[in-house]
Amino acid sequence: MSEAFERDFEDQPVNPTIDQSPTINDVIEQRYSRRGVMALMGSAAIAATTPLAGCAQSATDETTTEAAAEDFVELARGVDTNHQTAGGLEDQIVIRWGDPLFDGIGPFNPLAQSVADQENRFGYNNDYIGFVALPDDENGNQRALLCVNHEYTIGNLMFSGRAGRAGTAEEAAIEQAAHGGTIVEIVNIDGAWSYVQGSRYNRRITARTEGMELTGPAAGHPRLATTADPEGRFVIGTLNNCAGGITPWGTYLMAEENFNGYFSGEAAGPEQANHERYGVPGGWYNWAEYEARFDLAREPNEPNRFGWVVEIDPMDPQSTPKKRTALGRFKHEGAESLVAPSGQVVLYMGDDQRFDYVYKFVTAGRFNADDRAANRDLLDEGTLYVARFDADGSVEWMPLVYGQGPLTEENDFSSQGEVLIETRRAADLLGATPMDRPEDVQPNPQNGTIYVMLTNNSRRSEDQTDAANPRGPNRFGHIIEITEPNGDFTSTTSRWEILVRCGDPADPAIGAEWGPGLSENGWFGSPDNAAMDSANRLYVSTDGSEVLNQCANGVWRVETEGLERGYSRLMFLAPTGAEICGPRLSDDENTFFLAVQHPADGGEDFPGHARASTFDDPSTRWPDFAPDMPPRPAVVALTRADGKTFSEV
Ligand code: FEO
Ligand code: CA
Ligand code: CA
Ligand code: CA
Repeated sequence: MSEAFERDFEDQPVNPTIDQSPTINDVIEQRYSRRGVMALMGSAAIAATTPLAGCAQSATDETTTEAAAEDFVELARGVDTNHQTAGGLEDQIVIRWGDPLFDGIGPFNPLAQSVADQENRFGYNNDYIGFVALPDDENGNQRALLCVNHEYTIGNLMFSGRAGRAGTAEEAAIEQAAHGGTIVEIVNIDGAWSYVQGSRYNRRITARTEGMELTGPAAGHPRLATTADPEGRFVIGTLNNCAGGITPWGTYLMAEENFNGYFSGEAAGPEQANHERYGVPGGWYNWAEYEARFDLAREPNEPNRFGWVVEIDPMDPQSTPKKRTALGRFKHEGAESLVAPSGQVVLYMGDDQRFDYVYKFVTAGRFNADDRAANRDLLDEGTLYVARFDADGSVEWMPLVYGQGPLTEENDFSSQGEVLIETRRAADLLGATPMDRPEDVQPNPQNGTIYVMLTNNSRRSEDQTDAANPRGPNRFGHIIEITEPNGDFTSTTSRWEILVRCGDPADPAIGAEWGPGLSENGWFGSPDNAAMDSANRLYVSTDGSEVLNQCANGVWRVETEGLERGYSRLMFLAPTGAEICGPRLSDDENTFFLAVQHPADGGEDFPGHARASTFDDPSTRWPDFAPDMPPRPAVVALTRADGKTFSEV
């Protein structure tokens, strides 16, 4: 979601416990005592796993390392109406907002939009990209399904003549139809990816999709009941699908993030405190004028039916989307997973709000690689944990289990369902560490490390800093690396350290820390989504760089190992106004997919367009650059010009 959008509407941290976090003095004291322990142990191996080891170094450091052969020529930072791709890479547009998905649907006419029409087309503001490989076609062409989220809509860029966010009843319904997700088949013919209109797999899920099922411990809870669904089991639609994941059994997870923004009215009655903890109502849209379900006065429980992770089987277009309540309710950024040595599946998840938390979920059952159907309901049973990052470099994963610790009647919890509906309050009571806006949490199945994108936190004051969130204010964000002991992702104790502190290393006041040898183009701010390649390199896409850095958002590749650890290079730049989401490598690592979200948003910030950016007068008409076509969010595919994979040198 656009940083500008969030700044306007969602600048208030809602965690009431933040003043309980340790002060800087507590942290300094703990750091020094830790250093004393380290000196006594004298173990370089252990030192390398602590947050004090200083593996990331200032770019101005004199250290020189032999750089690996470069597979792309780094871009120069800047802002432009078009995207920029690093030398040595080739780019192509795969699919864009309005592209027809089904047989009989014609070319997109943005001046003749309707609900029924949008439901047959690729949605707005593509975010997460999942890649599910299919068998090659009869000509030997590579095929796959892309599972793409559509996080939110921007009325003034979608509709001609629309000035602000409030539109007509029909526009509100079209906006809903442009939310959700798309499952679409793609094919690679002679190196060119295209999508397959009319594929039997193609499917739209939207904010209007009926019969989405609530499953797991909170399903059927009275606090999920509404007039339309007195049993609390079936929801209309999904909202603000940000990042997500593909499970080991090939299902598509859509994370519901800023669901609060869709509700209007006043938080009152028994749900008031619960709603306030989630920033409900956000009032970003005027949908409540047209539909009772978005009006708190009429449907006070409706917001409790959002903020979940939705699971969809992309192989079966008739399958019922399921909201898996066992994974907790918060502003889910994403839901990436891997299989632990025990066979249990572990999902890592961030709650993207200033001063909110990092979670993981461990299934009770074990993944069955031989029987896909046996994994169907694995996500309904397991343990949700929230992270406490201690100054000694350890992570304590604390279980959110009804009846354990403070999660009892004494604190108004009467079931596991209630613990999950109020996940944030339960985590507050356990003393989780308030973080600098956890976005994507990216595991690396190669070596068992996990990377947490902490995008920024302008509201953290200096006396609210701690070891894991060391800067206040934190304008540029940082990335934390978690290591699970012996690759056991189910462990309740892990280690953490900071990989990089983002921002311009040339300005000492920012306190940035990167690996050695960084060029002036290699630094970034506001890390958001991430992907790994099999050479253990981290690809980070940003949201917020354009405003802060006078440089477009983009994709940077960060080394995580050896002498180059923390060294970063600029690989792709977004067109003006856009953030980059969903970085995703194809399974064979030949193709790097990315989502360009909200091109032309916030035109006032762009030097070449110092006025409002609208459908009729946008700051860019990316990617078509046709006078009758507004800017369109789109999926881009990058490949290497030399035909190699992204992990080859
Ligand atoms: Fe939808 Fe936190 O980004
Ligand atoms: Ca994001
Ligand atoms: Ca990711
Ligand atoms: Ca963001």
